[in-house]
Amino acid sequence: MKTGARRSVFAANWKMNLSDQEAEGFLRELRAAKLPDNAEVLIFPPVLYLTRLAELARGSAIGLGAQNIYWERSGAFTGEISASMIRAAGAQLVICGHSERRHIFGESSEMISRKVRAAQNEGIVPLVCVGETLEEREAGEAFEVLQSDTMSSLAAVEPDQSIIIAYEPVWAIGTGLTATPKDAEEAIAYIRSQVRELWGDIADEIRILYGGSVRADNIAELMSCANIDGALIGGASLNPTSFLQIIINGSNI
Ligand code: 13P
Repeated sequence: MKTGARRSVFAANWKMNLSDQEAEGFLRELRAAKLPDNAEVLIFPPVLYLTRLAELARGSAIGLGAQNIYWERSGAFTGEISASMIRAAGAQLVICGHSERRHIFGESSEMISRKVRAAQNEGIVPLVCVGETLEEREAGEAFEVLQSDTMSSLAAVEPDQSIIIAYEPVWAIGTGLTATPKDAEEAIAYIRSQVRELWGDIADEIRILYGGSVRADNIAELMSCANIDGALIGGASLNPTSFLQIIINGSNI
């Protein structure tokens, strides 16, 4: 079992997947399962399902979050959703700066930093994603990217030990390629060192997760690394049996 001050986190990022019926069935199944006490279990469903899933999760240890927000509180921003709106729908967290937002939707670190601050202002916990592309890794620029993503995403953000960071190397997302535990540990230790530069010893309390082709058969090795505090899971989180197995295998380190 992993010891230390940082409680493990297993977070399901469903992205734009699952029907409302499937989402509800998933939550019922997860609720009925025995979840380890030493782990925090989070679900990031499509935002439309939040209200219903929050009802189903009430009284359980399962946390819910949105996959994105806009930073303004209200106004003429067609198609956008604010931090207060997701809070009202039952979210306690929000993912900021997932690589799909950065690369498909062109979000900059400055935009992400605004989202992080907007979430904090509403009492929503930001889960901030950082990570390099394959091109950047091959060019030997991975650490530069991690430095710049981390520093600029947290720029002007109030030091806050509840913020969660996820290291998601873009080349490992949905590809079946997982960073080796050694590479993931090295990158995450580096991200922690950057947080330390910004926020001092709070860095020791911040949970930093790994994401990118996490499965039940590779989670234990990843979790055995000193700096890896959990996982942000895409594909393998769409099925309750496989997500539960990841939680179980990842918590019994
Ligand atoms: P996969 O687990 O499908 O590689 O996705 C990772 C991810 O992007 C989670 O946010």
